[in-house]
Amino acid sequence: MIHVICELISAPELNLVFRRHGHEENIHADSLVYMVSSLGINPHECEAMLEDIPTIKDKTDFVVSNSRGLRRDMDMTKIENKQALGRNMFMFGQVMEGTQFYGLFGMILSLYRQNKFPGIGQMFRYTLRDESNHIELLRNLLMDLVDENPEIWTEEFKEDLRATMAEGIRLEKAFIRDCLPVAAVGLNLVEFEQYIDFIADRRLTACGLAPLVEGGTSNPFPWLAEMMDIKKEQNFFEGRVTEYQKASALGEIDDDDL
Ligand SMILES: [Fe+2]
Ligand SMILES: [Fe+2]
Repeated sequence: MIHVICELISAPELNLVFRRHGHEENIHADSLVYMVSSLGINPHECEAMLEDIPTIKDKTDFVVSNSRGLRRDMDMTKIENKQALGRNMFMFGQVMEGTQFYGLFGMILSLYRQNKFPGIGQMFRYTLRDESNHIELLRNLLMDLVDENPEIWTEEFKEDLRATMAEGIRLEKAFIRDCLPVAAVGLNLVEFEQYIDFIADRRLTACGLAPLVEGGTSNPFPWLAEMMDIKKEQNFFEGRVTEYQKASALGEIDDDDL
């Protein structure tokens, strides 16, 4: 975010937002270290997993595959370079933060819902609140980039972004399969795969791109939306019970909730 996207943004207010974004990511990293330390796991062991566990390494390689080339002076008057920048915004905002994160978030919050790891669940909910802003910021930025440079929004580029999302989904499903070798503690692999497909299609359509699942897909975890909406939860005792249940019963889910 800081070394690629922020470097190329001239609007001062956006620069400030990106600094804040970086700050929030540091807090997330710090809270993750705190969580694993509290569980008695050595954080360095977790760091080694980035190299040692193939499904994690593949995700890391994927997410930096496009940004590596952008870490140098680029002629931003060229269409292909503008597209590379746009692809980067899409990869970080919609594929990584917007879709891949939700596999792990869903698993943790599913445990939290059963009163397992309540502290960790709460931390993830705070993290998700920040991520929702990051996803929306990068989506707006991509849409503005396209508005200002309509020549980059070719059919080929759109297909390229959809293929990028498809690859992100493939890698995330492989990772989820590693995390959930058996259906246990209320976590079911098939439902998580469907959830990832559902979230991915929401991200694609929000960017004006065609969904990947033909005929559409539904959210297998309607309760996750209310779990993720931290504002609603904070007002829980003030709100009416019927209000609280409506979202999951009718499947009324705001974009902000996901
Ligand atoms: Fe984060
Ligand atoms: Fe983020």
